[in-house]
Amino acid sequence: MNRIDGLLSRMTLAEKLGQLTMTASSYAVTGPVIAGDSTQSIIDGTIGNLLNMVGPGPTHEMQRLAVERSRLGIPLLIGLDIIHGHRTLFPIPLAEAGIFDEAVWERTAREAAREGAADGLALTFAPMLDVSRDLRWGRTAEGPGEDPWLNVRIARAKVRGFQGADLAAADALAACAKHFVAYGPVAGGREYAAVDISERTLREVHLPGFAAAVEAGVATLMPSFTDLNGVPMTAHVPLLRDWLRGAHGFDGVIISDYHAIAELINHGVAADLVDAAVLALKAGVDIDMMADAYRHGLPVALEQGRVSMDEIDACVRRVLRLKEQLGLFDDPYRRGAQAEAPAVIAERHAYARDVARKAIVLLRNELRNESRNESRNALRNERETLPLPSSVKTLCVLGPLADAASEMKGPWWGAGEHEPHVSVLAGLRAALPDVDLRHAPGVAIDDADDGGIAAAAALCDGADAVILCLGERATMSGEAASRAHPGLPGRQQALAEAVIARAHAQGTPVTVILFSGRPLVIPWLADRADALIAAWFLGVEAGHAIADVLTGQVSPSGRTTMSWPRALGQVPIHYAQRPSGRPMNPADYYTSKYQDVANDPLYPFGHGLTYGRFRYADLRVEPRNVRRDDVIDVSVELRNDGTREAEETVFLFVRDKVAQVTRPLLELKGYAKLKLAPGQAGRARIELPAAELAYLGPDLEPVFEAGEVEILVGPSAERAGLLAETIALLE
Ligand code: GLC
Repeated sequence: MNRIDGLLSRMTLAEKLGQLTMTASSYAVTGPVIAGDSTQSIIDGTIGNLLNMVGPGPTHEMQRLAVERSRLGIPLLIGLDIIHGHRTLFPIPLAEAGIFDEAVWERTAREAAREGAADGLALTFAPMLDVSRDLRWGRTAEGPGEDPWLNVRIARAKVRGFQGADLAAADALAACAKHFVAYGPVAGGREYAAVDISERTLREVHLPGFAAAVEAGVATLMPSFTDLNGVPMTAHVPLLRDWLRGAHGFDGVIISDYHAIAELINHGVAADLVDAAVLALKAGVDIDMMADAYRHGLPVALEQGRVSMDEIDACVRRVLRLKEQLGLFDDPYRRGAQAEAPAVIAERHAYARDVARKAIVLLRNELRNESRNESRNALRNERETLPLPSSVKTLCVLGPLADAASEMKGPWWGAGEHEPHVSVLAGLRAALPDVDLRHAPGVAIDDADDGGIAAAAALCDGADAVILCLGERATMSGEAASRAHPGLPGRQQALAEAVIARAHAQGTPVTVILFSGRPLVIPWLADRADALIAAWFLGVEAGHAIADVLTGQVSPSGRTTMSWPRALGQVPIHYAQRPSGRPMNPADYYTSKYQDVANDPLYPFGHGLTYGRFRYADLRVEPRNVRRDDVIDVSVELRNDGTREAEETVFLFVRDKVAQVTRPLLELKGYAKLKLAPGQAGRARIELPAAELAYLGPDLEPVFEAGEVEILVGPSAERAGLLAETIALLE
């Protein structure tokens, strides 16, 4: 008899339900706290899993209670949210997605896994794979942005990174694909609100990332708090049991979100905890996180004959198998046995700085005239605002986010909470030791006091350049952080107006750096700042990375993976919209438009400038007549006509012009990156398997059919900037 069967045959009901229960330690609570001290329950074997505990000491102490003092000695599974780094925080996922580099996505997860495992953890509740097209929702910060194709690639890379080649290795973590599924389109962008989307949108946009995670071998999965079209995900039999376990063969562990089983009562589908436990068990949820519904509800449900011991055993078996796969039975102290060497941590910080540089998105970089008193449009002696000229002797570093090291962590800091982070001011001080830096916050991040604005603006007098750091507090995005007015908080707009007016009156350029967990609605800034950077939240090395870009040590190369709207009224907004029967036509009143704002975003998906100046030419697509098994070779010539080396990200979109259903105006199907020196030319190549041009027909079944498809290549989803060729699909 194997270990699992042996254990099952000896386990009491209370011990079985203990394996289906996960409770939070006191370390960090990510939701309403329910369970008190768990130590006796661990010894009794009635709690088999923990979350929010960190450190080899505490985790091994709890592990010893389970392994050496409980009756059966079953090791604990201990997990934590490691969303974008463990102690060494990398840029938030929304920022990292814009790097468009699978090796980076995988490596940051691998580094985080090493750190988390060294802290005694065996599970992380990541990657978060919720596509979002509504920036009001705070959890856009944790996800991939608006595109499903990109989400699939991130899912694969993150599962590989967290789990590594061997789940039993001392530096491997079980990953958790979350939040299954379609959490992003919450009504009104309001956190935890109901979700109503079409079956087509569910299958075309929200499910592919999870299918990819399952295909990549993700060990666990977490249903979302939300309901989907009237059925709460925690009890969603068609998607959890039939789609996930049935059609996609997921045989891993499903862990409820925090207290979510009990919240089926609030959803109105369960009258009490027994009902809730039955619904979740029937849907295939294995572990009850923090609701205590299984321990209290399932014994009653068993007596009532509403669930069977076989159904409970099936869940216990999956949990025990995961612990076996993680090597916890062989050596429960393997993770955390060995502290990481300081050199390893130092190298990780260096890598964090490199990743942060790559995540910075340069949204705008206006031409300036070097000689101060020339008109701003004089032709002579022009240069872009950034990088800062080496002639700068006096630099203003203003705004509430300029010296806000702690905010650089972003909204899911986990074990990185107390790690020292580098602020913009500190980064610039280190990079420009001989420059006179003048600093004032001007205003707080989000209060009404504007008493400091005049003094801050006055610092611009005689300065060579101004860096104005604005945006959100780290906790204004992430979980439970929807915003109905997602612009500059507090009195920051007043600060921006005063500083830009004062600086421009003297011909001094102003670079605005925005910190946020989402795109912000900032049309005024976009028009007045000389340079505009989206710095998101870049993690532990934020200030150094920003200084590296501002001073021209490196060219920015990041792209935005969410559209930036001109107005909140455009939200939800994304590039892959379906056509209208009356597409926008300025000459025709009765066409799809707003009366008060353009249809297109302020900055489209994929937008991001570099310090180079890339010219696209000579798009080649081979073959032109394509069968399903062909691989289409797409290449385009790039030339860097700028004065600095830079790396361009080239996107490949497709447009299926006539199909059995309406098809998105653009769909991302590939990207390539090319670094070119000034004056250098090269070809960017992207291979597109023709099979990727199949789509879901009227019956939601895949269709690959004859017809014309446009292949479009360029620097973003802005249609006017794309080169296009048409191919013919042959059945
Ligand atoms: C939170 C989040 C989830 C997280 C879990 C454990 O409420 O929804 O993403 O993994 O609880 O912290």
